[in-house]
Amino acid sequence: MKASYQRSTLLRVAYSIIAVIVLLNVVIYATNLKWLRKDFIPTNKGLYRQFSTEFSKENSPTTKTRILSSGSSFNSSHDVIEKRFEERLVNVVTMCERRGIDYKQNWEKLKNSGRITGNFVASYDHRAMICLVLKAGSQTWNNIFWRIRSPDQAKKYGFYEKAETSQRQAFYDLSLDKKMELLKDDDAVRIMSVRHPLARMISGWGNKFNKRYFYYLWFKQYPGMLRYPNKYSKWRGERDGYFMEFVDFAEYVADYGTVSLENLDQHFKPILSHCDPCKFPFNFITRLETFYTDARWITENKLNVSANVISPVNVINKSKDPALLIKDYFSQLKPDVIERILSIYKVDMETFGYTFNTTTLTAGGWEKETSLT
Ligand SMILES: *[C@@H]1O[C@H](CO)[C@@H](O)[C@H](O)[C@H]1NC(C)=O
Ligand SMILES: *[C@@H]1O[C@H](CO)[C@@H](O)[C@H](O)[C@H]1NC(C)=O
Ligand SMILES: *[C@@H]1O[C@H](CO)[C@@H](O)[C@H](O)[C@H]1NC(C)=O
Ligand SMILES: *[C@@H]1O[C@H](CO)[C@@H](O)[C@H](O)[C@H]1NC(C)=O
Repeated sequence: MKASYQRSTLLRVAYSIIAVIVLLNVVIYATNLKWLRKDFIPTNKGLYRQFSTEFSKENSPTTKTRILSSGSSFNSSHDVIEKRFEERLVNVVTMCERRGIDYKQNWEKLKNSGRITGNFVASYDHRAMICLVLKAGSQTWNNIFWRIRSPDQAKKYGFYEKAETSQRQAFYDLSLDKKMELLKDDDAVRIMSVRHPLARMISGWGNKFNKRYFYYLWFKQYPGMLRYPNKYSKWRGERDGYFMEFVDFAEYVADYGTVSLENLDQHFKPILSHCDPCKFPFNFITRLETFYTDARWITENKLNVSANVISPVNVINKSKDPALLIKDYFSQLKPDVIERILSIYKVDMETFGYTFNTTTLTAGGWEKETSLT
């Protein structure tokens, strides 16, 4: 009697444990699904919190000059920066011509149809729009637009995920007439942001394969990747924060990207597949390497807003020279892998004025921050 009583108690305990395990698994599975639905964009709450505090800090007078200290020298380099914007555009359209693309015709067609596709946000009141390129300052630009377009909401909530979806929706909801106005107006500001394509690739890898962000789910979307971790790399303790070493990832990109760009995730597709100046009449191209100079010039001179709308969050750590970063990572790769990766980003590099010397592994095409820092 006593023995069977003990047995049934044991059974009950065992069932409870199993029930708890099943429940936990359901919860974990549901959370995974939530991540999947969000297109793998992590909810980096810490970042957004930091952002909200930065926002209120920046708006207090004492820290007004914190981001860009040399206000007076800016004025003197005004023309230099304007000229540089022009040179970038000249290079862009020269490259369109060289590729046999009638960019003028494309622009006219678009101006008369207003049918804009792509990753845009806009502030109609500021007569400005931007095409966002992932891993090339898109978050910072998106945030600038959020602050100028919805200052009250930005102040209240800081920068958070909703900013992006609500801005995209607002652009989608903008009438065709207003879109055409923004396209035709010579004074309207039409921006796209770029970055050295190889630094962009390294940055994308560093971000997406970082174990902190749970990107193992990528392997579900790109099952071919599963064959690459530790395929070409040796175990290196110091990089033990990533799901895949750069060497292996580079081999994956070289193998899959040369077959079709469609094989690559948005973060690694060439810049031109996000925003194409041969099709769209951009009038400002900003570079991540000179982000403050470029963004400040545009906000103050074109958007007529204070440069305080530029957040320091997510802007690259200046002490990390992008040329050194690229050399560090690309020197790990086999020459044929480098060649194939370059073939993927060749048109990007030429269009936006970046270079890479395969003999010296030196990246180039840099411009200065122009007496702003
Ligand atoms: C800034 O530029 C404007 C126009 O070029 C000029 O009138 C003004 O004196 C300049 N201010 C400073 C502080 O250099
Ligand atoms: C720029 O903004 C200021 C104040 O915010 C305003 O007084 C001025 O008229 C604006 N200038 C232009 C050209 O819109
Ligand atoms: C920038 O990078 C350097 C070298 O990696 C590091 O020492 C420094 O703390 C970093 N600064 C910031 C603000 O992250
Ligand atoms: C790469 O750099 C080497 C050494 O500076 C130079 O001799 C060579 O011409 C460069 N190659 C290209 C394509 O610029």
